[in-house]
Amino acid sequence: MTVETIDLRLRRAQTLIEALPYIRRFSGHTLVIKLGGAAAAAGNLDEFLQDVVLLRFVGMRPVLVHGGGPEISSWQRRMGMTPRFVNGLRVTDSATMEVVKMVLTGKVGPDLVARIHRLGGSAIGLSGEDGPTLLVRRAQNNGGEDLGLVGEVDQVNVEPVVSILDQGRIPVVASIGLGYDGEAYNVNADAVAAELAVALQATKLILLTDVDGVHDVTGALLSELDAQRADQLIVDGVIAGGMVPKVRAALRALGSVEAAHIIDGRVAHALLLELLTAEGVGTMFAGVARHD
Ligand SMILES: Nc1ncnc2c1ncn2[C@@H]1O[C@H](COP(=O)(O)OP(=O)(O)OP(=O)(O)O)[C@@H](O)[C@H]1O
Ligand SMILES: [Mg+2]
Repeated sequence: MTVETIDLRLRRAQTLIEALPYIRRFSGHTLVIKLGGAAAAAGNLDEFLQDVVLLRFVGMRPVLVHGGGPEISSWQRRMGMTPRFVNGLRVTDSATMEVVKMVLTGKVGPDLVARIHRLGGSAIGLSGEDGPTLLVRRAQNNGGEDLGLVGEVDQVNVEPVVSILDQGRIPVVASIGLGYDGEAYNVNADAVAAELAVALQATKLILLTDVDGVHDVTGALLSELDAQRADQLIVDGVIAGGMVPKVRAALRALGSVEAAHIIDGRVAHALLLELLTAEGVGTMFAGVARHD
């Protein structure tokens, strides 16, 4: 064996050993991970899902939450509908809700589950209507246009998700909730992830998106953000569009998780790098809770 081969082997072993303290730290812990629609379409979905499967096999309890914004819009157009948004929220009449349900629980969710199985893991897909897991109220329309069947999470019943985790499987949760009127409601997936993280007493909330993190007014990446600064950036309009519900979701979970992270889902293995190495990526929000 050449010196180079031995060197390469040692380096490989070293990389694995470096993950040991992180595996020890988070093994047995619940991690809620939201996959953004744009991040999912970025072409490294399998690398991301491989990370999730690996985390599961080293004893962590990852819960995957997904929306499906771009796919829903594309299917709406195919059905002759025009997608419309108010403050980043999809105006959801009953015909739109049918499309949302078909796309999330008939396509996006089952595709993620199938991919996880191809990668050697085991997953079960469910929506907030199953169980029911997520009970929602109709979102307030603050004097503006009625958003229709858009819900805000009111109560979380974690039992269906916990039982999937206890089986050693990965729950894949679609962002749909059950209203008190028995109707299905469309819920922002960032908010679903935050509410699940709180209810499951997760150690981390991780939101994967299609940018490298939250930017300041100059466009520079903010590697850390606290509630006060984040609120100000929202008021100033520096944090806008789809980043608003995401930052709000991170802030919502802060009283309960150790940390919330907004990371770049376009980067291969961003999740693994964030969790199992010293390298912090994206924007971190430090929480107040400790989960030892
Ligand atoms: N201050 C900011 N820093 C970074 N991105 C920002 C900021 N303000 C607005 N954005 C926008 O927010 C977008 C991310 O939110 P978006 O809702 O589009 O994606 P997602 O939530 O990851 O995916 P999906 O909504 O499909 O699940 C970025 O692509 C960027 O254009
Ligand atoms: Mg979004």
